[in-house]
Parts: sequence; C-alpha cells; structure tokens
Amino acid sequence: SRRALHRFADILVIGGGLAGLRAANAVESHQSVLVVTKDKLRESNSNYAQGGIAGVLDPDDCFESHVSDTLAAGGNLCDREIVDMVIREGPRRIEELVRWGTQFDHSDGELMLGREGGHSRERIVHARGDATGAEIMRAVIERTRKAPNIDIWEDAFTADLLTHEGQCRGAMIFDSIGQPVMVWAKETILCTGGAGQVYRESTNPPVATGDGTSIAYRAGVELRDMEFIQFHPTVLYIAGASRSLITEAVRGEGAYLVDTNGHRFMPEYDDRAELAPRDVVSQSIIRQMDRTKQSNVYLDLSHLKADHVLSRFPGIAEACKKFGLDITSDRIPVRPGAHYVIGGVTVDRQGRTSLPGLWAAGEVTSSGLHGANRLASNSLLEGLVYGAHAGEAASRAAGEQSSKLVALPISHPVHEGAASFDFADVRVSLKSLMGRLAGVERCADGLREASDSIRSFATYVMTHQFDTVEGWELQNLLQTASCMVDSALARTESRGVHFRSDFPEPDDNAWRCHLTTRVDVDGG
Ligand code: SIN
Repeated sequence: SRRALHRFADILVIGGGLAGLRAANAVESHQSVLVVTKDKLRESNSNYAQGGIAGVLDPDDCFESHVSDTLAAGGNLCDREIVDMVIREGPRRIEELVRWGTQFDHSDGELMLGREGGHSRERIVHARGDATGAEIMRAVIERTRKAPNIDIWEDAFTADLLTHEGQCRGAMIFDSIGQPVMVWAKETILCTGGAGQVYRESTNPPVATGDGTSIAYRAGVELRDMEFIQFHPTVLYIAGASRSLITEAVRGEGAYLVDTNGHRFMPEYDDRAELAPRDVVSQSIIRQMDRTKQSNVYLDLSHLKADHVLSRFPGIAEACKKFGLDITSDRIPVRPGAHYVIGGVTVDRQGRTSLPGLWAAGEVTSSGLHGANRLASNSLLEGLVYGAHAGEAASRAAGEQSSKLVALPISHPVHEGAASFDFADVRVSLKSLMGRLAGVERCADGLREASDSIRSFATYVMTHQFDTVEGWELQNLLQTASCMVDSALARTESRGVHFRSDFPEPDDNAWRCHLTTRVDVDGG
C-alpha cells in the first residue's frame, strides 16, 4: 500500500460545475475552500447546458406563473415551499451572474427571453445562442480562480467520504498523479452532478457517472426518488456521432417533430404539441417510433427563417454541419436520451443531507423542486440557489467549530493495481441494458432482468480493487444503476418521467410520496 498524504481545508467542495463553484463562492473569505473535480473545470453538465436559466424577469411575467408551471410539470410530487423559494430567489441569482460577468443575449438593451416546453411564456435567459452553460461557466470559473481563499484541484477523483462518529470529515481523494490524499474538512459539500452515462443514449458528457450518489450511498446517506430519470426528447441520433443535445429552445422557436413520413405527430398526442412537458414529448416519440418501426424521428426547422435559425443556434448548426446536415433545410434525426437525474441525495432547504457535516447542491440532490418531472431550464437555477445556500450554511457551521483540524485514525484501504479487467465491455453492456429495460418505458419483467444483470456484474466488479478512474467509475455506474432500477421496480405506478407500461396510471392513494433508500453503515 502507498502511504496517504493528509490535507486540511475548512470547506471541501466535491465537484466543479455550477452548483459547486457557486457554493465555493458563498464561503466566508477568511475560510479555506478546496474544490476538487475529477476532470477539468470545464467538463460538467452545467457547461453543456444549451437552453438557459428560467427566471421571472419580464415585468409582465409573475412568480405565480413560473411556480404553477413547475408544479404542473412535476406530477404532484414537488415540494411547494421549495418551488416557491427557488423561483422567488431566481432573478436575484441571475442578476448576480450578470455582475460576475456573464453576458446573456440582449436585444435593444433588454435581456432576450426564450421559451421551452412546459413554460406558459418566454422566460429563459440564454447566452451566445445555444452556448448558455459555457458562457456562465466561463464567468464563474474566472471569478473562482481569482478568489484567494479557494484552491482548485482538477483531475482529482473522490473515492469515498471520510466519516467518523457519524459525521462527515472530508473525503479520500486521488490527486492528479494518482496519489491518495485524505482531505480533512470541517464541512463537505457534494456537487458532483448527474449520471447520464448509465445509459447508452445520453446528452451528458463522459464525466457524468453517478459518483456523488454512489459515494453518498456507500456512506449511508439517504437517497430519494432514484427512479425519476428525465429523458430529453431530442438527442442527435446519427451513427458514429456523439449523442449531442438539440436544445428544446429549437422547439420553442417553432420547430416541428416529424416522423419518417414527414408527418407532424405531436398534435395527436397533446394539445401543447411540441411544447408539451418533456415526459409527454419523450413518451410520444417512443410511441411514434414504434408505430413507424423506426429508431428515430426528426426535427424540422425548414419552415423557420434561415438567418434567425443560424444566429439563434450556432452551436447546433455547427455540430450538424459536420455530418452534412444543414439545419435550415435538412431534417435532424433525433430520439430521446437520458438527460437529468431528478432523484439523488435528500436535502433540506439549506442543502443539509442526512449525514452531519455533509451538504449537497445541484443535480446530485433531490431537493423537492422538480417533483417527478423537471421543468426545462430550472436546473441551472436550482444549482445557483442551492449552491449559495449550501455554501453559506456550511460556512456558518464551519465557523462554529474549533479552529483546529486533525487527521483522525481512520483506516481506508489503499490498494495497488487490479488484475486486467475489461471495463469498457461491462460499461457498454450496462448502458445498453439500462436503455432497453429501464428507459422511457419500464415494466416489472424488464426491470427484474436489469436488476439480475446488474447484480451479476456487481459480484465481480464490486469485489475488485481498482486503482484507476475507469474502475471506480464503473463501480459507481453500477451502484447508481442499481438504485435506479430497484426504485423503478418498487414504484408500481406511472408518474412524471417514470412510465410503467404495466401500471400506466398515477396512483395518488399509494404513491404520492417519495421513495427513500439508504444502507446501514456503522458510522465509525
Ligand atoms: C435544453 O436546452 O433543451 C435543455 C434545457 C434543460 O434541460 O433544462
């Protein structure tokens, strides 16, 4: 075994997306913060967000309308107080981003506001057309790098939380040269984002492997609602192309969804047509693909003004051009893909988890904002609001502790290399079985088959000692997938993004509730 190094910080932030950096910036400037991210700061779901941030900024808009749209999408499972809190705080958080240097798109001196599914009006701020996340992260990363109390470790993989006497005390991290480091912190904030990589078709970058839900689960932290995986209706579907997101804002600008015969099918499924909430659009696409026996449908923008399309969606135009598609005239092949994990670590309004000393914010959490189906462009908003709350609360809690941090006598196994192992093979098998058996539509037989396969992979993957990122990620993917499948099997009804073909209706009497999951650990 190699000897572990020890490092100390008042606050440890795990994850460098929008929630993590917002949290780091909320800590009092006399306290030390260490942000660890397993890749470069730029690699996060936040960075790839296209649509934007929803917020009540137009004088003709009102909080009640944004609240009621969020509740309507959420399938009777949102926490109304949380929805109210996040939405009322939204404009302040967006203005803060502007002060920090984010350049949102303007027209005639006014913020341009876009429309997306489930919103009853235009209220989405965006930047550089469809590069909203990248522009926000540019500004926030710049600010974070300048803060004298914030240290950033890139390429640093968090293997596990350190717990002692029922408290989180930091984390065990492998730094950029693979050296094990015990990072001891007064308070730890988990902001590791999502897990789209559990599925073959996904909008998420390769880093989204469910690390946060898995390390929290292993530490005995409560998770909630893991069956609610949001599928984005329109993921680019070209053999050989990476599965990139085609923003919902395209439909917001009037694009049609058509099948292989050029037939515009959404009006047959829902009065709101292409602008119905995502669960409705994804499920309708799956049905239309079934009817036409095709593996995709198409987005058609050919009736929209070409100049406007090109200036509003420069990133998508560029990505499609690489495959010989002109988005102003050609149909874009798309199908639903895993986009956002609605469930996660249970948090209260301050981001407090069930483990003292551990806070969480952003996609890794289940806060009660999204219910059973997240409304488009509400997640960057949640990351900002909860990042700020968790950062402030953790900072206060750290301030109340004695100023000395010490390394505790915790033994954590640090192992040398594993025998050769075909990570890629198991990873690919997992992703395709999840798409097939735990995707937009699920049923008991399929979920049982998924659960059995995951268990059989786990018998050798979970007992293997790895010392590579691929190995740990594979363990996390399996852990997260297993939580998703078990919860999906348990919820014998359909609600929001969770559609059970064997229980196609919601059952408010039995199931208007959250499903929690946690393992017993001895806490020491
Ligand atoms: C999109 O641009 O369609 C994604 C927006 C979101 O997921 O909130």
